[in-house]
Amino acid sequence: MTLTFTVTSQAPSGTGAVGVPVATKGALPPGTGLDRAALERLGFTGKVGETYVLPSARGPVTILVGTGDPAQVSPSSLRRSAAALGRAASGFESLATGLAAVPRVDRKAAAQAVVEGLSLATHRWTELKTQNAKPPKLATVALVSPVPSATKQGVARGEVTALAANRARDFANMPPAHLPARVFADRAVAIAKESGLEVEVYNKDQLKAMGCGGIVGVNRGSVEPPRVVRLSYVPRGATAATPHLALVGKGVMYDSGGISLKPSDGSHAMMKADMSGAAAVLATMGALRGLRCRTKVTAWLMCTDNLPSGSALALGDVLTMRNGKTVEIHNTDAEGRLILADGLSLAVEAKPDAIVDIATLTGAMLRALGDGMAGVIGNNQGVVDQLLAASGRTDEKLWQLPLERDYRQALDSFVADMKNVGGEAGAITAALFLDEFVGSVPWAHIDIAGPMWSYIDNGWLQKGATGYGTRLLIEAAMTFAKPAKGARAARK
Ligand code: BES
Ligand code: MN
Ligand code: ZN
Repeated sequence: MTLTFTVTSQAPSGTGAVGVPVATKGALPPGTGLDRAALERLGFTGKVGETYVLPSARGPVTILVGTGDPAQVSPSSLRRSAAALGRAASGFESLATGLAAVPRVDRKAAAQAVVEGLSLATHRWTELKTQNAKPPKLATVALVSPVPSATKQGVARGEVTALAANRARDFANMPPAHLPARVFADRAVAIAKESGLEVEVYNKDQLKAMGCGGIVGVNRGSVEPPRVVRLSYVPRGATAATPHLALVGKGVMYDSGGISLKPSDGSHAMMKADMSGAAAVLATMGALRGLRCRTKVTAWLMCTDNLPSGSALALGDVLTMRNGKTVEIHNTDAEGRLILADGLSLAVEAKPDAIVDIATLTGAMLRALGDGMAGVIGNNQGVVDQLLAASGRTDEKLWQLPLERDYRQALDSFVADMKNVGGEAGAITAALFLDEFVGSVPWAHIDIAGPMWSYIDNGWLQKGATGYGTRLLIEAAMTFAKPAKGARAARK
């Protein structure tokens, strides 16, 4: 359920629960009737993530919510506190809290973070559950604030960003048969219409005619046709000088590996979410008009599944990509880079100031960084730095790896311009492959293979598809500035 937020000067009467922020130090809020020693005996010290429910016979229940060290409180810590509060309050229909008005944090940023934390932690995808769905009851939240105008601005922004991230999660949680590329493209058209975007959908015949050999090749094993969706957001009053960002999302609706079939394990079972990059890009695009983004943004969703069959792509096959380069297939499970190659080539043709692609690209990145952060690799330090800064603000962690060109020879092929796999550093060689399709356009690649999925409820992350990268891309688009062209990415 989408939460409804109001901003008030005091808790509305009849609220089911009141969330009271408590730091690890300093005076306790009045009215709890407890001192620190008593709270500590109850296991509550005020750390971020802790909550404690004080039952009451009459009137609203009080939920203490930890905000941590008062000197360290930030939008990111408040987002986590709010997520914990949302879980603790999930049995109540209404909640009031002063969490967005704690000292030392900009009111607008605080309100946005609290809205995000509450909305992300209480979101569930229950469309296919006929019993025991038990979604949180929480429906309305009153943010108690002495500065309502700043708080309201933050709420408005948080509502848009949280809706986007939850929408990305829903798409990624949908099973392959419920969301083939055709249907996803239809949903993209609907979102474009309601969000003031231009949209164009390319079908298989068009993609063949366009020379998009990568996505057509990956699609060969499937009875479901591919789709490429181009979405375009043009801010009001845009001129030729308006910064222009291009986004490319990997939309593998289901990745079986193809002829290089994956084993039937847990990680294969989550390959319905191999379109998480495209879902994050689509959700981002849907948010820009509502946020009055000043950047022009053009996006490509590269959608197909990857299946084995009598007509499937074979090892040794050679594909010709949109930019004319040829690729010899050595592993059909390295399919993401093949579809991104066409997407990046199309993006380059639009002459943007920078390109960012986002993809569940390599198990190697998951193994290198774990599931708590995404990796970023680029050809331009300015673009990478903008993403790292955005990631700090959204608390979607990102770590830079080098585009080590000495490893490029691992992709050399006897028969074509390159192979689609090779070498040891799998996350880096995948990026080196993509680098062949961006020319000299400033570019960064975000590999979300790790954080796209969560096996547990954890802070604002909810079990299942996480929508990771959606808020990061929105933040990056909102704050985008043209990077200097020659700024080669650092090697570390
Ligand atoms: N979609 C996978 C990567 C992936 C793995 C995402 C685990 C999320 C979790 C990708 O298409 C893939 O299969 N990559 C291969 C590449 C290899 C064949 C070079 C991989 O990582 O094993
Ligand atoms: Mn694969
Ligand atoms: Zn894949």
